[in-house]
Amino acid sequence: MADLSVNIGQLSLKNPVMTASGTFGYGLEFADFIPLDGLGGIIVKGTTLHPREGNDYPRMAETAQGMLNCVGLQNKGVDYFCEHIYPQIKDIDTNMIVNVSGSSPEDYAECAARIDALENIPAIELNISCPNVKDGGMAFGVTCAGAESVVRAVRERYHKTLIVKLSPNVTNIADIARACEAQGADSVSLINTLMGMAIDIEHRKPLLSINTGGLSGPCVKPVALRMVWQVAKAVKIPVVGLGGISSATDAIEFLMAGATAIEIGTANFLDPAITIKVRDGINQWLDAHGCKNVQEIVGCL
Ligand SMILES: Cc1cc2nc3c(=O)[nH]c(=O)nc-3n(C[C@H](O)[C@H](O)[C@H](O)COP(=O)(O)O)c2cc1C
Repeated sequence: MADLSVNIGQLSLKNPVMTASGTFGYGLEFADFIPLDGLGGIIVKGTTLHPREGNDYPRMAETAQGMLNCVGLQNKGVDYFCEHIYPQIKDIDTNMIVNVSGSSPEDYAECAARIDALENIPAIELNISCPNVKDGGMAFGVTCAGAESVVRAVRERYHKTLIVKLSPNVTNIADIARACEAQGADSVSLINTLMGMAIDIEHRKPLLSINTGGLSGPCVKPVALRMVWQVAKAVKIPVVGLGGISSATDAIEFLMAGATAIEIGTANFLDPAITIKVRDGINQWLDAHGCKNVQEIVGCL
């Protein structure tokens, strides 16, 4: 059996497979399907300083090989998370990582600071790339100045591993990644969803309540893979790759493109055990190809 362990900043992962925020709840919802401690990490639902109701329904639409969503960061706020959710998840034996969003740099930093105080949360993933909220969200992730302002503010108040999640809805994602690295990010993860749209032709109106939404699933994989490859060449910090991964082969492609670890999102909706199957598939591939550890193939192109 190959050594699957990898490091992201100060984080040690038993294997490179994590779950993508917004597609795996708080992890507990999947405990009947897989051993949660078999994962490298669980990135929980997006959390904001204040509670958010999210967008009106309909919020989801199926597309060819994927889906559109405009959930809009529905959550009960960071204080609710600390009081009610954290006690339920703090003893799960994997890296429990909180995905943080906000509408101003101060807002992000305050939310991050409250999570910094939680002993068993070793990292946050900063979502500067959500396309489905009116205030903040993706706006920060589409310019270097915007990304820098959020990462700088959070870095001052958050002392553990800081992963910044990048938007694919940009002209040059490598520039944004470099800007985050310069402000002290320990890692970047990519991609968040691609902005898309679907129309109900009988009613002559968009299928989603806010007209547009984020595209995810197998259809985005080639775009995500290309961006991971570009970013991995542009920065020295570890890259976490995601977007359309639904098999061990997909995951290995991301590792070869330069990702140190991967996340699985939309595929969890089709098969709640997909993360463990991908982990085992990576292991089998490494064994079959005589690799002693997974790091041998990271960025091996
Ligand atoms: C229903 C849904 C909710 C999501 N919520 C979040 C979120 O709260 N924060 C975030 O950073 N990304 C969120 N995402 C984006 C995913 O984490 C991931 O970046 C994206 O779906 C691409 O990966 P995939 O193709 O494997 O799903 C969400 C995606 C979906 C489908």
